[in-house]
Amino acid sequence: MKADVLLGLQWGDEGKGKVVDVLTPKYDIIARFQGGPNAGHTLEFDGIKHVLHTIPSGIFHSNTINIVGNGVVIDPVVFKKEIDALKKLGVDVQSRLLISKRAHVILPTHRLLDKASEEAKGKEKIGSTQKGIGPTYMDKTGRNGIRVGDLLSTDFEIKYKQLVKKHAELLKFFEFSYTLSEYEADFFAGVELLKTLTIIESEHYINQALQSGKKILAEGAQGTLLDIDFGSYPFVTSSNTITAGACTGLGIAPNKIERVIGIFKAYCTRVGSGPFPTELFDETGEKIRKAGNEFGSTTGRPRRCGWLDLPALKYSVMINGVTELMMMKADVLCNFDPILVCTHYLYNGEKIDFLPYNISPELLKPVYTELKGWKKDLCSLQSINDIPSELENYIEFIEKETQIPIRIVSVGPDRTQTLERNAVTV
Ligand code: GDP
Ligand code: IMO
Ligand code: MG
Repeated sequence: MKADVLLGLQWGDEGKGKVVDVLTPKYDIIARFQGGPNAGHTLEFDGIKHVLHTIPSGIFHSNTINIVGNGVVIDPVVFKKEIDALKKLGVDVQSRLLISKRAHVILPTHRLLDKASEEAKGKEKIGSTQKGIGPTYMDKTGRNGIRVGDLLSTDFEIKYKQLVKKHAELLKFFEFSYTLSEYEADFFAGVELLKTLTIIESEHYINQALQSGKKILAEGAQGTLLDIDFGSYPFVTSSNTITAGACTGLGIAPNKIERVIGIFKAYCTRVGSGPFPTELFDETGEKIRKAGNEFGSTTGRPRRCGWLDLPALKYSVMINGVTELMMMKADVLCNFDPILVCTHYLYNGEKIDFLPYNISPELLKPVYTELKGWKKDLCSLQSINDIPSELENYIEFIEKETQIPIRIVSVGPDRTQTLERNAVTV
């Protein structure tokens, strides 16, 4: 059996959590492959709204195993809060959750370094979630990090103190004042909880599962345009959010990947700093933000909004080898007519249809095509056959441009508000 990968094609918050939850009954294992508590994956069902940060979005299904892969960075403080919230809802986390020994641990000083670095950047700040993601991945690649496996060893405290000492030196450089003891009690309580969970060598578990015919879905965080290599650097996150990230973040070989499911919104959003070619600064942008309730699931920050950007979407399709698309939040555009779609850019005065290296607004202007809006509430639609013809045209236009089929159209945040096109067969 081969694994499927599900990931975001824009700047994150495409609705990955919702789709993973919807698809989970078709899988035995859901495995997160990168990112950490910077992510906020929202699930809604039976009137409950739940936001997950580190824990895979299959956790609400009793027959599915959820794995936090080696590519993920875990903050024991956030992790404990997530687990406590799930336990309150009666979720049997203990039996459904496995954690990779190789996943790296976010220390309180990683969070402080993230904050200090952002403050020092002033106007140039990344707009980081300040969850310690960048500094933790820096320690990972710098070969200084602490892994979940280290929590179990007798020299954990020595390693912790050594790393904190190094961080304290760096924080001096930033002239950043803090009281570490304020954070340490929660950190060590989180570490103790982590140690009670099932910690495994997940690369072996995953490959054995594939060999024995189990179905695995790899869940991405963030989005392709936030990828450390292919995103709008330096306004990116610090991990590989793309399909290749599922290989390194779980230990799945490239030839063991089958479907690559790309999630995108019917429009675009971005939270944090950095270029965003189709961003709307007018009342239309405000109207999308309101209709889509576009406020960050992790930080509550208002998300920047704009029209769908096809050159960017095509770039993401290319980088990830997307085999099928899922379009989210079609309902949000129900009061917009016309709907604009960016098909090209004017780049240095020349018309291009691809995403170039530099997408700064001084160089790059979007060129739009107008499509007819559907002007119909979609929230209670039960079947794809009932969608308005204008929406079907919108879908077919995107399929033609990307050359990839759109298999799911989402028309609301709830599990049930999900319309399948050409029935997905897993
Ligand atoms: P993720 O990070 O990709 O999992 O996405 P987020 O959870 O951060 O953001 C997506 C938001 O849109 C959440 O509040 C979801 O509940 C919501 N959502 C998902 N799909 C739809 C949809 O089709 N329509 C509407 N209106 N909301 C949706
Ligand atoms: P999910 O998984 C949207 C953004 C931040 C910032 C940049 C770097 O919910 O889609 P970081 O904290 O990683 O150093 O921030 O990336 N960002 C996200 N934006 N959704 C996310 O995750 C994000 N995770 C990070 O806003 O611009
Ligand atoms: Mg999110």
